[in-house]
Amino acid sequence: MTTLRWGILGPGRIAPRLVRAVGGCARAELAAVASRDAARARSFAGAHAIPMAYDSYDSLLSSPDVDVVYVALPNHLHAEWTIRALAAGKHVLCEKPLALSVAEVDAIADASGRAGRLAVEGFMYLHHPQVLRAIELARGGALGRLELVNGTFSFFLTHPGDPRVDPSMGGGSLWDVGCYPVSLARRIAGEEPDGVGAFARFDERGVDRTFVGQMHFPGGLLAQFDCGFAAPDRERVEIVGSDATLVLESPFLPAPDGPPPSVTMRRGRDETPVDVRSTDQYQAEVEDLTAAILDGTPPRLDLAFSRGSIATLVDLDTAARAHLGSATG
Ligand SMILES: NC(=O)c1ccc[n+]([C@@H]2O[C@H](COP(=O)([O-])OP(=O)(O)OC[C@H]3O[C@@H](n4cnc5c(N)ncnc54)[C@H](OP(=O)(O)O)[C@@H]3O)[C@@H](O)[C@H]2O)c1
Repeated sequence: MTTLRWGILGPGRIAPRLVRAVGGCARAELAAVASRDAARARSFAGAHAIPMAYDSYDSLLSSPDVDVVYVALPNHLHAEWTIRALAAGKHVLCEKPLALSVAEVDAIADASGRAGRLAVEGFMYLHHPQVLRAIELARGGALGRLELVNGTFSFFLTHPGDPRVDPSMGGGSLWDVGCYPVSLARRIAGEEPDGVGAFARFDERGVDRTFVGQMHFPGGLLAQFDCGFAAPDRERVEIVGSDATLVLESPFLPAPDGPPPSVTMRRGRDETPVDVRSTDQYQAEVEDLTAAILDGTPPRLDLAFSRGSIATLVDLDTAARAHLGSATG
């Protein structure tokens, strides 16, 4: 096999990014899309020149003409459809968060092992050269002794029918955008936190709309972040060391084209730009999985990393809910 044929489950908001990413990857092509609604599947297939349109996710999984499945469904369906796709003999790229509990990640790992197929969580920003460089600089000692990682990711989400504010669908800003600064801090630490703290403002359905969290890592690194659905677009990361601070102005959603994202090294009043290039990070994600499947290289994100992600998010959510009475409103 030299070219992987991709199938998309869920032609929603994020799916066109994957279409572009696969289109830019020499060893990948789009084969199929599936929707619960036949007309929606046909319309998406027509708009993106995808050969096959299925009116159910199961029928796409039964197709012998699909090698890799992209799970682009609401959060509560990630584990179920990842496991079903693996059982059907497909490799899987599943959007973040891979699951909503550690037990679900373990079930995915079991299914992956049984099927001999890969399952990878779609944290596209962890494939961008700016983040790879930042992690390399931080872990390589360029900032001195690492002290603190500070991250922010928020935007306005006002539509009440959106799955991201539905408690039965894995809603909440922590699961949707907080997972980014949390995963980056863990990546920089190179280990899992041994303590967390958190507060949140929950809506009337118990979904967090603004969240602040803190993590302590065994090696001493501290991390804090805020995320939310109730503030204008904000994203930023500072990695603070004893000698210098690295600042990423668009760590999570840098534009794929145009000027490169801003990354600066700050020492006292001196600011030095770090040389990074613009990249379609979704394409980098597809290429990483393609190489893992076709060449046997280890995927950049493994299930142990995802397990740590989900465990930390669950702990943060639990910590914030412990203060529910005092923090509502
Ligand atoms: N990595 C990133 O940059 C990024 C960005 C945005 C979102 N995401 C992640 O990608 C996933 C999908 O996000 P999205 O914004 O694309 O979601 P979305 O547009 O709200 O939903 C995606 C698709 O899910 C299907 N679906 C299945 N059951 C559903 C239900 N009960 N209610 C609503 N839709 C249902 C729908 O397709 P049919 O009804 O046609 O089958 C829908 O088009 C989420 O997990 C999100 O966290 C990642």
